[in-house]
Amino acid sequence: MRIAVAGGTGTIGSEVVAAIRARGDEAVVLSRSTGVDVRTGEGLAAALEGVDALVDTANVSSLSAKGSIAYFTETTRTMLAAEREAGVGHHVLLSIVGVDEAPFGYYAGKVAQEREVEAGGVPWTTLRATQVHEFAGQMLDALSMGGLHLAPVARTQPVAASAVGRRLAELAAGAPAGRVRDLAGPREERLDEMTRAYARSRGLRGPVVSVKLPGRQFQSMRAGAALPGPDADLVGPTFDEWLATVGADESVRSQRA
Ligand SMILES: NC(=O)c1ccc[n+]([C@@H]2O[C@H](COP(=O)([O-])OP(=O)(O)OC[C@H]3O[C@@H](n4cnc5c(N)ncnc54)[C@H](OP(=O)(O)O)[C@@H]3O)[C@@H](O)[C@H]2O)c1
Repeated sequence: MRIAVAGGTGTIGSEVVAAIRARGDEAVVLSRSTGVDVRTGEGLAAALEGVDALVDTANVSSLSAKGSIAYFTETTRTMLAAEREAGVGHHVLLSIVGVDEAPFGYYAGKVAQEREVEAGGVPWTTLRATQVHEFAGQMLDALSMGGLHLAPVARTQPVAASAVGRRLAELAAGAPAGRVRDLAGPREERLDEMTRAYARSRGLRGPVVSVKLPGRQFQSMRAGAALPGPDADLVGPTFDEWLATVGADESVRSQRA
């Protein structure tokens, strides 16, 4: 099978690409760095030739509802139109657990994106996953100023991006299934503690300060809106197990360097 991955160079998308290739399928990476813009459509028609399924893991860093809704609506419409034109028979979306319980800020865009997919005329599958372990590093990148690092307080049950990648690769190779069971990690964590542990493992200097970010999205996450329900599939490793592995990888890399 030939499977396109929008955002295939990103945190989760690169794991989807690796999992597709590990299964023996062919992956086509769609990102601006590979000459394909899924918002404007540049390069998309040529990239979708002969493609059977498209997995959407493209992302925007906007935390505002306006910016997030505009990005996810425009990219999804652009991709679905190109898929209809190219005869791509399956659109697979990665969404987030609890988005409709907290449809504010960034999550408002994810809710709009799910609706576009459901109404878009291309047979679809939507997987909602919790935050990935790598989210701790994404928070550090986004919220570090000088030597100060901010760590948002939130309840989460994180899952490894590699596990999400494997699940999306399986789903893309199968038949369109609509909304499938949510995917989460094995244990609830506090996002600020994950962020602090991640910063320590990277040897970052300076304080990592827990903060209650304003806005209803993070307020809802503090109240548990992003936690999985009883029907979710839970898959390891835990955050600590993952961090130990990433630390080992980094140390091997630095010994080689
Ligand atoms: N991170 C999490 O904890 C988490 C958890 C559950 C679900 N999700 C969902 O998973 C998806 C991916 O998140 P992520 O954290 O892996 O994202 P990420 O690391 O920020 O990667 C974003 C990817 O999107 C690509 N991209 C952005 N704009 C593009 C455009 N206009 N055209 C083509 N490619 C574009 C980027 O490549 P270029 O910059 O080269 O274009 C990059 O490959 C998002 O939809 C997010 O809502 C994330």
